[in-house]
Amino acid sequence: PSSLKNRSLLSLVNHTPAEIDYLIELAADLKRAKRAGTEVRQLTGKSIALIFEKTSTRTRSAFEVAAYDQGAHTTFFDPSVSQIGHKESIKDSARVLGSMYDAIEYRGFSQEVVEELAEYSGVPVFNGLTDEWHPTQMLCDLLTMKETCQKPWKKISFAYLGDARFNTGNSLLMIGAKMGMDVRIGAPKEYWPNEELLALCQSFAEASGARILLTEDPVEAVRGVDFIHTDIWVSMGEPKEVWDERIKALLPYQVNRQLMEASGNPDVKFMHCLPAYHNTETKVGKSVIEAYPELKDGIEVTEEVFESPASIVFQQAGNRLPTIKAVLVSSLA
Ligand code: CP
Ligand code: NVA
Repeated sequence: PSSLKNRSLLSLVNHTPAEIDYLIELAADLKRAKRAGTEVRQLTGKSIALIFEKTSTRTRSAFEVAAYDQGAHTTFFDPSVSQIGHKESIKDSARVLGSMYDAIEYRGFSQEVVEELAEYSGVPVFNGLTDEWHPTQMLCDLLTMKETCQKPWKKISFAYLGDARFNTGNSLLMIGAKMGMDVRIGAPKEYWPNEELLALCQSFAEASGARILLTEDPVEAVRGVDFIHTDIWVSMGEPKEVWDERIKALLPYQVNRQLMEASGNPDVKFMHCLPAYHNTETKVGKSVIEAYPELKDGIEVTEEVFESPASIVFQQAGNRLPTIKAVLVSSLA
């Protein structure tokens, strides 16, 4: 639709359910076309700036491959090779990049920065993750849930367990409320989303018919759900000193076999935006698991669940590509 043309993707808060549905369907079409070898290049000659103030594997790959598949070029900026925000203000950087690029992707810390880039660049800006929101991940998660569970949004239920105050937890609650889903947050009260976000989600739920449950009881959170989502307990940009408090608070919310079974749904699926800490094969996973005997089976998810047939995390990761491609095509083609 014309409402998506030249549109930024900052949070999805201001996108309508119909626009979101359109993006998911476009992503599914683009995914099929690539597999069938029938993809049509619609972004030939476009240039997209990719700014990453935090590390990335999936988001960067998806933006780059999506752009190449569609005939566009990208430039990757990381904080060590650009002046952005360090030697040059965001407002000035926005005007410089906007004079050369057709769009800008930005991953960083505060949401204000990505909003400022959109305000001053004059080109569409796509949020590749901030502390507050992860909108491209949400399009991916919706596509993945839809592929796995062919029910209307209003009949799909999911739980998010863990730190619900950060990008992934905030975004899942908001998108579930907006799309009319049955959303459960399982976390200690101090890890629930802030009042302002809750009020916004309640207003979305009134319009969409969504059901929102916030509970400190992990078993109540997962009862009868189609999907169980989690995320890492310490996000990018947080100091490693917080591990201690996180483990104490969040251990009861670890996604393990008992919790999967507590859903009572033999077909329940496990989702995680990744990267995940489920064994000692990463530096952080190793240091944390070795320091805390109670985490011997994994951190936010056990190795057993992560590697089980119920885990659809790599299908989910692969869906970053068509969903990000849908954002680029709908805005820039
Ligand atoms: N899920 C996600 O955003 O992954 P990356 O941090 O690897 O981009
Ligand atoms: N909450 C995580 C998400 C990573 C994709 C982080 O911000 O590090």
